[in-house]
Amino acid sequence: MLSGVTYRASNLYLLETLNMTSDLSPIVQAKYAAAKTAADMVQDGMKVGLGTGSTAAWLVRCLGDRVRDQGLKIWAVPTSTRTAVLAREVGINVIPLDEAKWLDMTIDGADEIDSELNLIKGGGGAHLQEKIVATASDQMVVIADAGKVVDALGTFPLPVEVLHFGWRTSQMLIEETLVSMDVLGRKTSLRMAGDRPFVTDEGNHVLDLHLNRIGNPRQLALVLNQIPGVVENGLFIDICDRVVIGHGDGRVVVRDITTGTETSSTMDLDEGDNLFSDL
Ligand code: 5RP
Repeated sequence: MLSGVTYRASNLYLLETLNMTSDLSPIVQAKYAAAKTAADMVQDGMKVGLGTGSTAAWLVRCLGDRVRDQGLKIWAVPTSTRTAVLAREVGINVIPLDEAKWLDMTIDGADEIDSELNLIKGGGGAHLQEKIVATASDQMVVIADAGKVVDALGTFPLPVEVLHFGWRTSQMLIEETLVSMDVLGRKTSLRMAGDRPFVTDEGNHVLDLHLNRIGNPRQLALVLNQIPGVVENGLFIDICDRVVIGHGDGRVVVRDITTGTETSSTMDLDEGDNLFSDL
């Protein structure tokens, strides 16, 4: 699978989507199944936050299909420039968050999901906008392939967006802070895009924290955001309400933390043929 922080730091996430024309790998089918299921949760008249990443790109395409084929009327707030471009391309009305003010639902991907539906996000470097948009929503629905579900957060490097000004100082302060945190690793690295530092939509950098295991995600999320120069970390605590987990065979499990329910269904993946051949 094409993945990894450097790879995700660029617009190349769309290439992962495009690759499926040649091989519909189980992981891509799982992402599609989750995205399609979540797209069907969106109702006429809703204001919807659109996440960033390869799974979210499937969601945007599925919603675009519903707009075109069913006349679905929605207003969408994208969480990145690249999602905004794709949403417009597929005919979705895009508005800024400050115009929408409050959203009915945000649907987004994740890098890791634990049993309490706490998340690591930011593999695509968009977690700042993603967190703002998700918290301005009645509910956040996370779509992912089953590989994103973990016992404990931290195997995926935790993204922390920092200001360009004094980023080395912020990095040093983060490393000092990690000494007293319940984590297994303490290395940090500046995210790169080729041979240059990655720059977010807000003009900031991203530090990736290689922690291996985060013992107390809630505490770490609070502490990191106190460090000068830190703009936002990629831990989403108590923000996600529902997860839609796709499997390579078309099975989809929906878990809702508020109602405590879990439902399972199986999608006929041949349904996706038209969407796949559009690419
Ligand atoms: C972007 C994100 C993405 O949602 C996360 O990286 C998952 O991406 P993908 O769906 O491509 O696996 O947080 O900032």
